[in-house]
Amino acid sequence: MKCRICGKKPIIYMPQHRLALCREDFISWFERYTERTIKDFRMFTNEDRVLVTVSGGKDSLALWHVLRKLGYNADGFYLHLGIGEYSERSRRKVEEFAERLGAKVIVVDLMEELAGIPELKKATSREACSVCGLVKRYNFNRVAKEYGYNVVATGHNLDDEASSLLANVINWNVKYLGRKYPVLEEEEGFVRKVKPFCKFTEKETALYALLNGIEFVEEECPYSEDASSIFYKETLNRIEEKFPGTKLRFYLEYLRKVYPRFREVEERELQRCKVCGEPSPSEVCPVCRLKERVAERKA
Ligand code: FES
Ligand code: ZN
Repeated sequence: MKCRICGKKPIIYMPQHRLALCREDFISWFERYTERTIKDFRMFTNEDRVLVTVSGGKDSLALWHVLRKLGYNADGFYLHLGIGEYSERSRRKVEEFAERLGAKVIVVDLMEELAGIPELKKATSREACSVCGLVKRYNFNRVAKEYGYNVVATGHNLDDEASSLLANVINWNVKYLGRKYPVLEEEEGFVRKVKPFCKFTEKETALYALLNGIEFVEEECPYSEDASSIFYKETLNRIEEKFPGTKLRFYLEYLRKVYPRFREVEERELQRCKVCGEPSPSEVCPVCRLKERVAERKA
């Protein structure tokens, strides 16, 4: 096999694109492809102020790197989750990387705002990851508005998107099918949310991070993803091995054929939380209710 551009020895073969590329050509392909995804889905332009939510992992740091390289107005946001040494190490990685990029990073400490994930897990009967998802979504949106960003970008890759799609299809979670899209437009109280890496596999983002010498946290969060989402990822990888290209097709065909049909199913009734003023499905938003519960426990 040869690099399709220059004929040198390739570093990667991507069966879904029938494309083999050498190191240099992979890097520039990756950047052009990101740019194209941003344009195709009208995620944002140079006029927008983008807040990249960085966890210290490969996807989010690689995303920040590419967006800056492409000349976008992109700063970082790190939410310190209070998960012991893991969170400390991640914060250090993010801050070092911000320095390397010469970019601004906003750091918010959940322990000061509310409580760390371990404590929130105890205060509720919920899984760590589900509470974590809730406080992340809330804070990404709130902090973006507070600092004047109109777009929040996350590093979700194709493996994340396709495996969660599979899990939701298997459970016929129809609501999900009308909600999952790489761009969620701004609406009353919400900034726009985008996923520019939604068409890259995990392997591709990892390679890009590696080739660019991006130092990321390799260890998983100690709570990690729940066992079922890891299982769905592995299952998709097995299907992909047997039928190369399935993963990307599964996701893209969903976006093209299924999402438009289910989209109108989703009608959100939102009001403002009477405590914090953020959009909420109930009088008091779920995060403020968490706050109450933590306070009760302390008392
Ligand atoms: Fe949220 Fe691990 S990153 S629980
Ligand atoms: Zn609230």
